[in-house]
Amino acid sequence: MPRSADADARRAQQLRRRIAEHDHRYYVLDQPSIPDAEYDALYRELVEIEARHPELITADSPTQRVGGAPLAEFAPVRHRQPMQSLRKANDEAELRDFDRRVRETLGRDEIAYSAEPKLDGLAVSLTYRDGVLEQGATRGDGETGEDVTANLRTIRRIPLHLHAGKGHPLPPLIEVRGEVFLPLSGFRRWKEEAESRGERAPVNPRNAAAGSLRQLDSSITARRPLAFTAYAIGHHEGWTAAPKRHAQVLEHLRTWGLPVSELVETVRGEPGLLDYFERMRQRRASLDFDIDGVVFKLDDLAGREELGSVSREPRWACAYKFAAEEAETILEKVEFQVGRTGALTPVARLHPVFVGGATVSNATLHNMDEVARKDVRPGDRVVVRRAGDVIPEVVRSVIEGAAAQKAHEAREVVALPAACPVCGGAVERVEGEVVARCTNGLSCRAQLHGALIHFVSRKAMDIEGLGDKLLAQLIEAGIVDSPASIYLKVDAPALAQLERMGDKSAANVVSAIDRSRDTEFGRFLFALGCPQVGETTARDLARHFGTLDALLAAAEADAPTAHDDTIKEKDRFPLLRQVPDVGPTVAAHVAGFFTEPRNRDVIRSLVKPVEEGGCGIRWKAPKAAAADGALSGKSFVITGTLPGVSREEAGAFIEASGGRVSGSVSSKTDYLVAGEAAGSKLAKAEKLGVTILDWKALRAMAGGD
Ligand code: IVH
Repeated sequence: MPRSADADARRAQQLRRRIAEHDHRYYVLDQPSIPDAEYDALYRELVEIEARHPELITADSPTQRVGGAPLAEFAPVRHRQPMQSLRKANDEAELRDFDRRVRETLGRDEIAYSAEPKLDGLAVSLTYRDGVLEQGATRGDGETGEDVTANLRTIRRIPLHLHAGKGHPLPPLIEVRGEVFLPLSGFRRWKEEAESRGERAPVNPRNAAAGSLRQLDSSITARRPLAFTAYAIGHHEGWTAAPKRHAQVLEHLRTWGLPVSELVETVRGEPGLLDYFERMRQRRASLDFDIDGVVFKLDDLAGREELGSVSREPRWACAYKFAAEEAETILEKVEFQVGRTGALTPVARLHPVFVGGATVSNATLHNMDEVARKDVRPGDRVVVRRAGDVIPEVVRSVIEGAAAQKAHEAREVVALPAACPVCGGAVERVEGEVVARCTNGLSCRAQLHGALIHFVSRKAMDIEGLGDKLLAQLIEAGIVDSPASIYLKVDAPALAQLERMGDKSAANVVSAIDRSRDTEFGRFLFALGCPQVGETTARDLARHFGTLDALLAAAEADAPTAHDDTIKEKDRFPLLRQVPDVGPTVAAHVAGFFTEPRNRDVIRSLVKPVEEGGCGIRWKAPKAAAADGALSGKSFVITGTLPGVSREEAGAFIEASGGRVSGSVSSKTDYLVAGEAAGSKLAKAEKLGVTILDWKALRAMAGGD
């Protein structure tokens, strides 16, 4: 029975409060107190009430995090109090100088400092009026930033509402300062997912965070696993009980519900500074976020006034960075590497330089857009960065002074080669895409090597013992020139020709190749390496079409719709798009790949029986979903870490009960099974109103325990 509007309003308010509290426990304190399913039920109830009564939606409702309509541009925001930067101490002597100056100015013997990690993300300012998040802005030039409120709202660790605590009343207006960053686990997950889909992967966590925060479409930001940590207060009004020490400021922030780093300590004197720095240096590698040094701030706020600022850098604070993970060297030349999809990646060949514990002589330049943006030219002095386990990259050219500028301008601009550096094939850059590709397919040795590494990999044909090096040797020796030749040409005598190949290993490789002939349709499709077809899409294609012939026929029938202007875009690829989660981009790639004559020849040869001179790859017809299972007809997406089971096992469980598992959340998804650290998929599911289950609820639904 629908409640009265009044009762709904009261219930909505109660739900908002409870959800905010659980969000705080989950995202800020990392101490959830109710099961996910219970949380989901609260959330859904609120969504339902708000759907019935849109007038009840408030700006700080948790349902408003998911991202609204895209903006045309960000509005400028003038900071009420400038967002300053930090002076740097480059070595111990400079750090001592800093402490000495503070002591001398304040006339004290020993100083208490707040010691904090220097988070490597983006500084933002959050304005809370009467406790409600009103506006969020980037730092910009320190005076004026950009209004990124909609994006900041999507970050779960940013409370939409602050709560006064005992002895911690809320000021009517307060600007909270802090850092938005991307945890390393989220960065890696994003990178892997992007790579497996053949999409552009983020370059490093900082760039990824910056890019995510500057999306005009906040639903994109919502899918990124961004985090936030508060470290200061900017302007405030009417704060009668303003504390006297920074440590108390942080305590207030924490009490109000804001996440504050647990690594913050109050330390004393120079020994305290050095000791803290050393401990953070050692802890750094075990943290799930990048820190590039530590920040020391005078704890006594009155003393800060006394010290003041010079050129926008307060004299009361100082950043002490870890030994440079950046170094300068000379860019000798730029070469292009060719990947498995033919993508050309510009690679910097550098004069060897020691950075962050290793000598680096090659670094990535990512793609031609990056090269153009950085305008690095061979001969330039460049900054090279090595961040954690991320591959070294060229950050920028160092051009100091008019003479250096002139020299830089005289150097040749890096140009995309017209021909593939490996095979000489034509290079093409499709409009709207960042990557340029060699168009020679498997006739290009680099693409062949990449394609074969993928083909034999564990989740594809799973040929153990046939590694990168051996494949390179086989290609070099002219034994292997296509996936089919692995089955047709690689035998004991062929392997015996290769250097460093013992009889025993050769026999193992031959039997692994033989075993791989019996496979699954989905694995086979994945192994083929069609762009945009990852493991899940391959499995969906296999299940939907059932047979290779059916898939090839659908591709053939759909391909002509690709460029047919008489057909509306949404009506193109009608057959392929019946496959769950296959949208226009994926369909276009599938149609193109499976109608390409060379690809079709290879595919035919792979599945032709051995007796007829083929490779003999075969599979049993994919299991039809159990029609009478408890989960029949329902589609599931699994995300996050489930308790005690892998995602693969959970997927098998769902399928055994008749359900269908897919890789991405769409309006066709019935349930999201979410475990710990669920990120973008959870956000999307919430946005689409998909029912969210935890592992326990799923098992209960399937009639298990
Ligand atoms: S305090 C005047 N605390 O460092 C003090 N900044 O160079 C202003 N940062 O833009 C900032 N961790 O992005 C402060 N614990 C921390 C910080 C921190 C990282 C960044 C921040 C700022 C830059 C200053």
